[in-house]
Amino acid sequence: MSETVQEKKKVIFSAIQPSGSFTLGNYLGALRNWVKLQDEYNCIFAVADLHAITVRQDPQKFRHNIMEAYALLLACGIDPQKSPFFIQSHVHTHAELAWILNCYTQFGELSRMTQFKDKSQKHADNVNAGLFTYPSLMAADILLYQADLVPVGIDQKQHLELTRNIAERFNGVYGKTFTIPDAYIGKAGAKICSLQEPTKKMSKSDENANSWVAMLDTPDVIMKKFKRAVTDSEAVVRVGEGKDGINNLIGIMSAVTDKTPDEITAEFEGKGYGDFKTAVGEAVVETLRPIQERYNDYIKNKDYLAEQYKSGAEFALRLSQRTLSKVMKKIGYIAK
Ligand code: TYM
Repeated sequence: MSETVQEKKKVIFSAIQPSGSFTLGNYLGALRNWVKLQDEYNCIFAVADLHAITVRQDPQKFRHNIMEAYALLLACGIDPQKSPFFIQSHVHTHAELAWILNCYTQFGELSRMTQFKDKSQKHADNVNAGLFTYPSLMAADILLYQADLVPVGIDQKQHLELTRNIAERFNGVYGKTFTIPDAYIGKAGAKICSLQEPTKKMSKSDENANSWVAMLDTPDVIMKKFKRAVTDSEAVVRVGEGKDGINNLIGIMSAVTDKTPDEITAEFEGKGYGDFKTAVGEAVVETLRPIQERYNDYIKNKDYLAEQYKSGAEFALRLSQRTLSKVMKKIGYIAK
């Protein structure tokens, strides 16, 4: 390729639900990758507050959680000057395209989503239609921006595959309309597990608070949670079958220090699990400390936050409107 021809930067879109404190899993599985990708790609990020009402929210807490999510992402290093960053409910095209895509998504496809099955079991008294059609809204989020890549943890892979199917189906009927997105799953941290039941993913909806680390937990609390982490009886720090607890701790250590599991095993040769758990806890505390400090500044500065999310929404609306108009025209709607 000639030097004068520049390759167009790929587009990245991702979002996170503002459902209370983010976990170490959210950070290692997704957020820190978002931050790293900002220079290389055209990134667009959102706080997915429309998704969050598939489970009941207390209005006051919900308002706080949305603001906390926005401030915490800035504190992680999302730079709204580089990467438009908005609140999903501020950009009406998401709900509009979601409705349209619902009509191109099959009941059977949605029924197979493991997250729907899990959540409908957990919230058996509120299996609402939104919970069921949630993946079409997620597809709309992604497809509106013609995203090439979507950085997520492994738990969102199935939703990404459905997004691809919906986009391919639509393109098949109307000609190329949507870019077909790929999941971007980081090498380390793609699935951080519960500290108490290390075969399950770490999740903020887990009733046992010792099973998950919140990004805003104090150093004391973080240390306590790691010291209580479930391990095994072998007492050797190495990756192995049946060593889910230690495998998970090695994964966390590897993600926060950028050391390989082999390097970690060598470093802790001859040392017990107590030492290892303390070291992992300390490494996590040090990773989160600067983020927590920045968060405490951002959350006090509501005017700055409002400035950022408003300009993010304006940009997102302009861009997403292009895709929505194209989609509506192809379907046969009459332009305003
Ligand atoms: P959410 O809000 O549950 O999680 C946000 C991101 O964190 C990742 N994650 C994890 N990664 C590793 N280990 C864990 N234990 C762990 N827990 C969570 C998730 O994979 C995700 O990347 N539906 C999405 C939000 C969303 C979205 C989108 C994502 C809405 N629209 C469009 C991408 C593109 C969700 O509920 O993620």
